Amino acid sequence: MAAVLDSTPVHLRGNGRPVVEEQTITELKVNGSIPSELDGRYVRTGANPLSGTSAHPFFGDGMIHGVRLLEGRAEWYRNRYVQTPFIANPSVDILDPSVMMDMKSSKANTHVIGHAGKILALEEGHFPYVVDGDLGTVGSTDFGGVLKGSFTAHPKICPVTGELLAFGYSALEPYLRYLRVSAAGDLVQTENITVGGPTMMHDFNITRNHVIFMDLPAVFNMELAMSGDMPIRWDDNYPARLGVMPRDGTDAQVTWYDINPCYVFHPMNSYEEGDTIVLDVARFSHMWRESSMDFPSPELWRWTIDTVTGKVSEEQIDDMAAEFPRVADSVVGLKHRYGYMMGMSEPGNPDDPMSASGAILKYDREKGERSEIQFGRGRVGGEPVFVPTENPNSEDDGYLMTYVYDASSDSSSLVIMDAATMDSTPVASIDLPRIPNGFHGSWIPASVAN
Ligand SMILES: [Fe+2]
Repeated sequence: MAAVLDSTPVHLRGNGRPVVEEQTITELKVNGSIPSELDGRYVRTGANPLSGTSAHPFFGDGMIHGVRLLEGRAEWYRNRYVQTPFIANPSVDILDPSVMMDMKSSKANTHVIGHAGKILALEEGHFPYVVDGDLGTVGSTDFGGVLKGSFTAHPKICPVTGELLAFGYSALEPYLRYLRVSAAGDLVQTENITVGGPTMMHDFNITRNHVIFMDLPAVFNMELAMSGDMPIRWDDNYPARLGVMPRDGTDAQVTWYDINPCYVFHPMNSYEEGDTIVLDVARFSHMWRESSMDFPSPELWRWTIDTVTGKVSEEQIDDMAAEFPRVADSVVGLKHRYGYMMGMSEPGNPDDPMSASGAILKYDREKGERSEIQFGRGRVGGEPVFVPTENPNSEDDGYLMTYVYDASSDSSSLVIMDAATMDSTPVASIDLPRIPNGFHGSWIPASVAN
């Protein structure tokens, strides 16, 4: 294990230590049996600084870790840096204003998705990067010159239309742009949206007919940017609002609803029901009030917008710390029964990774129940990605995939769990080298991108 110096930032300790060697491994040990119906790639990105250090957990260079599954086999594991300008020239400063405003200067460290035959590595301040099926970098994309600013790391693919609904936010006006990409991958609508200021909008929500923007009190601060700190801070005077707009609508058609101050990085899902719009979200009481490392615990909440009265009811669903919510791709924007989250109740001490213990939580929103898969002492997973069986007969008929780090061996595995039964024994687990903590990823079927 590499030496940890007192000066090493907390986010780069334990399994936060970056991995800089790129590997291709084709002989992989499998425990259990990989379902033969799985034909595609599980890919996940994260912040993994090439230089070995970064000033904030969100600043590291994007490295994608992927496993190719086919015919019951794990064909390969690959980890690859996304070849951004920061890899070619590690001395480039992410907080240099000219770099921040250069839309090719993505860290590509936040999410990986598949859409319209392409695999996109995303970060919220810049253009997407396209990678190929072997995780090699093709290059940044501006959708043929149509995209004029940033592109969120959390676009939503409508399971009914195949559209990719997205947005981009900026420290400079226009602070928010709505972006609608057709099922064929063309950026067909760009709409400037009026918000209260340069809010950090990490994610958003779709329903069958609407998108919902979260205009929340984490706001760009130029003084912090000049000081070299994360340039976003909580603002007690900034109203918290939800903006509901038809999916092909305009700024003038946004209806804003006041909510209590809070921060949400990630909604679980949202849907329309009669005159209401329901949103399940991982809610923080605030974000970065005292410093850029001020992260309170997130919990699952439900917001219900009454579009007739204009009121939003806010209900805490659970008091267990949890983040990285996901639902089945088939119910994004539609009424979901099940949601899955990464349990965070025992994060442990990064200098003693055996003190941590991770879990996948499954919420049944119809029965109001929570079930769990506990990984055990020293074992921590990440965002649970739901993968359906070939012919699912229920919303939860499928698998949950995530990388699990095991501190006792200082290595990782891809675990494939049964989402319906939540059995603690994996359907299959594939032994892998150590994969550092990361952010988001996807199961990309070979039929979507290959
Ligand atoms: Fe995120």
